[in-house]
Amino acid sequence: MVNRIMLNETSYFGRGSREKVAEEILNRGYQKILVVTDYNLMDNGLVKMVTDILDNNGINYCTYFHIKQNPTVNNVKEGVAFAGENGIDAIVAVGGGSAIDTAKAISIIMNNPEHNEVVTLEGAVQTRVKGVPLIALPTTAGTAAEVTINYVITDENHMKKMVCVDPHDIPVCSIIDPDLMQGMPQQLAAATGMDALTHAMEGYITKAGWLIPDIFHINAMALIYKNLEKAANDKDNIAVEKMAYAQYIAGMGFSNVGLGIVHSMAHSLGAFFDTPHGIANALLLPHVLRFNGEVCPDLFRNMGKAFGLNMKGLSDKEAVEEVVEAVQELSRRLGVPQHLRDIGIPEEMLLALAEQAINDPCTPGNPRDVTVDDIHNIYKEAY
Ligand SMILES: NC(=O)c1ccc[n+]([C@@H]2O[C@H](COP(=O)([O-])OP(=O)(O)OC[C@H]3O[C@@H](n4cnc5c(N)ncnc54)[C@H](O)[C@@H]3O)[C@@H](O)[C@H]2O)c1
Ligand SMILES: [Fe+2]
Repeated sequence: MVNRIMLNETSYFGRGSREKVAEEILNRGYQKILVVTDYNLMDNGLVKMVTDILDNNGINYCTYFHIKQNPTVNNVKEGVAFAGENGIDAIVAVGGGSAIDTAKAISIIMNNPEHNEVVTLEGAVQTRVKGVPLIALPTTAGTAAEVTINYVITDENHMKKMVCVDPHDIPVCSIIDPDLMQGMPQQLAAATGMDALTHAMEGYITKAGWLIPDIFHINAMALIYKNLEKAANDKDNIAVEKMAYAQYIAGMGFSNVGLGIVHSMAHSLGAFFDTPHGIANALLLPHVLRFNGEVCPDLFRNMGKAFGLNMKGLSDKEAVEEVVEAVQELSRRLGVPQHLRDIGIPEEMLLALAEQAINDPCTPGNPRDVTVDDIHNIYKEAY
C-alpha cells in the first residue's frame, strides 16, 4: 500500500505573519500579482491589511473581488478574463474558502487553458501542469483551503457544487495569521469552526484514513473542541490563534484522505439553497455521526478521548452517543441552527437533495456504505 501526503511548500503561522507575503513574492521573483478576494473583505478593511504590505514593498498588483459566498462558475470565468487582461504571474488570495477556491480555479485555468470551460474541472481531473503560483491568506478558521488540493465551485446552471480535486492547485505558500480572523462575527466564527471540526471527524473515520492523517485529525479535533467556543463566543485571543492552526491541521489531514457524507449532503444544500457551508455541516454532523457510529465504534471512543470525555465502561452504542451529544451540545452553545426547517429548507426538496448527494465525490469515502434512502432519512432526521 502506498499513501501520499501533499502539503504547501512553505507555510507561516503567527500573528503578524502576513508581512511574509512581500518577502515570498520578492524572493520568488513574481512581477505582477492578482489579489483575489470578495466584496465584504474589501469593505471591512481586511484586504487592506494585506495590500498595504504590497504597497509598502513596491509590489505591483490588481484586485479581483467579484466573488460570492459559494462561488460560481461565472465568478471564476470573470476572474480568468481579468487576470488575462492584466498580465499577472502570481496570485495572492485573501479570504475564506470562497475567495481561495476561486483563486485556485483561476490559477488552474490560466495555465491549463483547455479547461476554460470550468465544468470540465469537476472531480479528480488530471490537469497538464501546475496552476499559476498561489499564496493564500485565510480570513476564516474553517475550510483550510490554503492547504488542501480541493476547491469547490457552484455550477449555477445545474444547481450543483462541483468538488474539484487536483494536486496542481495547492498553494505554494500559505500564511496563517490569526489577526486576519480575530474580527470574524460570532456566527461566522461558529459556522466555520464547525466546518473544521467536521473535517477532523469525517477525515478521521473516512475509509481511506491511515496513521499520519489520523495524527493530524485527532490533534485537530482536540484543539477545536477545546477552543472553538472561547474563540467564537468570547473572541479569546489565544483560542482564536489555536483555531487558526487547528483548522489548518485538519486540512493537512482530510486533503490527503477525503471526507464523507456530511460534506456530500452539505454540498447539495449549498448548491440548492446557498446555505453557508459551515452551517450546513454543523447541522448535519450529529445525525451523520450517529449513522456512521454503527460501523466504527472504536474510532468514536478515540474521538471521545480526544475531546476529554470519559469513555470508560460504555457500550459501543453509548460511546457513539456520548460523542454525538458532545458535538450537538457544542453546536447549541455556539448558537448554530439545529434543524433544516429553521433555515427555510422545504421538506419536499429533501429527496432531490439526497439524489444529488449520493453522487458527490465525498460519498465513497464515507465509512458506512449508503443508499439514496439512507441519505434521505438522515435529511429527514435533521429536518
Ligand atoms: N477547498 C477546500 O478544501 C474547501 C473545504 C471546505 C469548504 N470549502 C468551500 O469554501 C466555501 C466556504 O468558505 P468559508 O466558510 O471560509 O466562508 P466564505 O469564504 O464563503 O465567507 C463567508 C462570508 O464571510 C466573510 N468573511 C470572511 N472572513 C471574514 C472575516 N475575517 N471577518 C468578517 N467577514 C469575513 C466573507 O466576505 C463572506 O461574506 C464554500 O464554498 C465551501 O464549499 C472548500
Ligand atoms: Fe468543509
